[in-house]
Amino acid sequence: MSEDTLTVTDNRTGTTYEIPIQDGAIRAMDLRGIKVSEDDFGLLSYDPAFKNTANVRSEITFIDGEAGILRYRGYPIEQLAEHSNFLEVAYLLIHGELPSQGQYDEWVHEITHHTFIHENLKQFMDGFHHDAHPMGMLVSTVGALSTFYPEAKGLDDPDARHMQIVRLIAKFPTLAAFAYRHSIGMRYAYPDNDLSFSGNFLNMMWKTTELKYEPDPVLERALDVLLILHADHEQNCSTTTMRAIGSSQADPYSAAAGAAAALYGPLHGGANEAVLRMLDDIGSVEAIPEVIQAVKDGEYRLMGFGHRVYKNYDPRAKVIQELAHEVFEVTGKNPLIDIAVGLEDIALSDDYFVERKLYPNVDFYSGIIYQAMGFPTSMFPVLFAMGRIPGWLAHWQENLLDEEQAIVRPRQLFVGEGERDYVGIDQR
Ligand code: SDX
Repeated sequence: MSEDTLTVTDNRTGTTYEIPIQDGAIRAMDLRGIKVSEDDFGLLSYDPAFKNTANVRSEITFIDGEAGILRYRGYPIEQLAEHSNFLEVAYLLIHGELPSQGQYDEWVHEITHHTFIHENLKQFMDGFHHDAHPMGMLVSTVGALSTFYPEAKGLDDPDARHMQIVRLIAKFPTLAAFAYRHSIGMRYAYPDNDLSFSGNFLNMMWKTTELKYEPDPVLERALDVLLILHADHEQNCSTTTMRAIGSSQADPYSAAAGAAAALYGPLHGGANEAVLRMLDDIGSVEAIPEVIQAVKDGEYRLMGFGHRVYKNYDPRAKVIQELAHEVFEVTGKNPLIDIAVGLEDIALSDDYFVERKLYPNVDFYSGIIYQAMGFPTSMFPVLFAMGRIPGWLAHWQENLLDEEQAIVRPRQLFVGEGERDYVGIDQR
């Protein structure tokens, strides 16, 4: 049986090195021992966008991109979507195990009773322009939460960490709904502790003159499943941002604001919003062949398609597509789904997409459901972020407790100017 090592020869010196292989990886720091002279810094690994770099060891989420597998703490996403609920999944991601009934009841009670935000935050929210994008409002107000809870800097205290985790999961929906109500000029609808996590969010979004808002159970469940599907996805861009900010020991509110900012981008969590705009632009099934040709000509990127890790169908997209039909039973069919299904059918049989292993991802169908449920397109990335909060927090805490971790500070390959002398402006 061969050793779990890599034997490399540096042809610059003829020296051979044995580099240990562990968990399918070599340590980049082992490359530093490969030098051409004693005072040589040693080799770096160069990996733009970290396409082939693992910078953490994690027990939270497992993805097999080739097989289209996604598991939270070992549990397949399909089983969690069918049998669990969002708060139970949030507990699982953060604590590592499914809760007992007592643990679950206590967790739900804590989160239910921390949904209110400081009244001063409303003044902060009111300061935004009427047509401010709600994601921009969320990035700001989540960060502002850090100013109300200075004890959040107590990162070594597990009870203090737990309290901030509860507050962020509990208050994000309130901030999200308040951002929406601000954008349509409606008074804020306060949390209702008699409702479930998802039911209360619908209450804060849609309540008008009724004394007590009653969520439609099908839509309440559909939203809860969508939140489960978005709850974590290992080292994606926003989670990596959460870990990086947390590595400097900033508080979790500031880290979550940074993660939300990363998620806002159209290549990440902003894709669900971009998909709806794309489907609206396409307008009809008849226009699909022209769009596919534009993609193949490099003129157009099919939003909601492709993934850095999945080179197979995103398992979340399958669940969402099935969920859409349950939602349409209540809301009526969103005609955009015909365009989406038509795009998928053609793309999955076209060599351009097959060669590049481009499949629908989580964002391809989610926006169609959100729109059918009445959410404006601008709220889609906010809904994505609301689901991802527990995943961000689970990774933030895992990073803090990982003794191998330190402040994130990558190296660079400097390719700029060498030393040169200053030249006065009159001589330039
Ligand atoms: C999310 O990381 C995560 O886990 C993210 C996420 C999560 O839960 O956190 O899963 C959520 O962000 C899903 C992805 C949402 N984004 C989109 O749907 C935007 C559209 N998709 C892409 O821009 C793209 O597929 C990425 C950003 C998702 C992945 O990009 P990569 O891995 O950097 O791949 P690439 O851009 O290098 O593309 C490889 C090839 C290129 O062709 P060639 O240059 O080799 O000829 O595939 C092509 C790309 O042009 N390609 C696409 C395409 N995505 C990639 N061509 C058309 N349409 C697309 N969507």
